[in-house]
Amino acid sequence: MTGTRGHTLDIVAVTHRYGAVTAVADVSLAVRAGEIVALLGPSGCGKTTLLRVVAGFVRPQAGSVRIDGAAIDGLPANLRNVGIVFQNYALFPHMTVAQNVAYGLEARGRPRAEVRRTVETFLDVVRLGDFRDRLPRQLSGGQQQRVALARALAVEPTVLLLDEPFNALDKGLRLDMQIEIKRLQRQFGLTAILVTHDQDEAMSVADRIAVMNHGRVEQFDTPVNVYDRPATLFVSGFVGTTNLLRGRALEAKNGCAVVTLDAGARLTVRTERAFTAGVPVVLSARPEQLCLYTAPAPERWSVTRRLSVPLGPNTMHDLETRDGATLKLIEPRHAYGVDAKEEVWCGLRPEAEPGLFDASSI
Ligand SMILES: Nc1ncnc2c1ncn2[C@@H]1O[C@H](COP(=O)(O)OP(=O)(O)OP(=O)(O)O)[C@@H](O)[C@H]1O
Ligand SMILES: [Mg+2]
Repeated sequence: MTGTRGHTLDIVAVTHRYGAVTAVADVSLAVRAGEIVALLGPSGCGKTTLLRVVAGFVRPQAGSVRIDGAAIDGLPANLRNVGIVFQNYALFPHMTVAQNVAYGLEARGRPRAEVRRTVETFLDVVRLGDFRDRLPRQLSGGQQQRVALARALAVEPTVLLLDEPFNALDKGLRLDMQIEIKRLQRQFGLTAILVTHDQDEAMSVADRIAVMNHGRVEQFDTPVNVYDRPATLFVSGFVGTTNLLRGRALEAKNGCAVVTLDAGARLTVRTERAFTAGVPVVLSARPEQLCLYTAPAPERWSVTRRLSVPLGPNTMHDLETRDGATLKLIEPRHAYGVDAKEEVWCGLRPEAEPGLFDASSI
């Protein structure tokens, strides 16, 4: 029961190609003991391939995987002691819940009494003790996922790999499973990698998120930093909703850049990055970082309001800039004063720190 506490996982400079396709390109991730890392990225960016490398199903062309500092590259999958829950990693249909969970333990030749004890323990962990004699087809989708989780956990894996395990579940069950994973992490000090398309899931479950694109990790950071300080233009657009405003950098010094937007405003933006004067830039501002005004002023640009809709406690405005860019702006619903007016101006909220990226390469 304590065997899963405290294992580190190091993925070191892993590259894997399928023929001409580079699925994983020089990826390094140091996962701390007891940490849950989410792999987040668009379809085809290499998430599953990276998990398969860790699990030992795929032998990468370059790089190394280490658990607790020791390379496991030479070990076949069945000797790696890595737990896996894949979306369609089906349960054995003809075996009961208890037999499914016992499978890995029996395959490892554990004594009968120990198998029985361990099965009971992990069925309790996933709260399925009363379902031990049912067949998979007599369970709901969420219950089946919990059996798969218990089966993966029962062999006390050093690392748990979860590849979109909750995709088939509806929202409520998904949330239950996410909470379950967090609880298991706290109880066992589980080290895990969770692959997901769902950024909310990544934000709520993971301690850190690795955002992948085209086989590379573009940012590996806490959920809050990935959202608030995206490292690249791709991350700023992929995680959360953002507005892109084109312009040019005028000068950049002392942690600030002056930018002229094609939308028609000159802004001073805090940034740590350096920009050559005249270089094309993209300002990435989230809907909640923008503000609507009914009068012009420096650092504001004119917009046409196309639509305003209530969104829970907020109002979402759909705006168009004079250079034809579409902006989404969210503000608390009580701020209804601008609703009736035709001409409005948009600006950054005083405290907003939007991302500023060099656009010369795109
Ligand atoms: N067995 C294979 N043979 C050839 N190419 C493959 C194979 N498996 C994956 N690929 C390719 O490698 C790339 C990465 O695939 P991978 O399955 O790792 O992506 P993913 O991020 O898991 O995507 P998804 O979110 O759709 O599951 C893709 O371009 C894919 O087409
Ligand atoms: Mg995949």
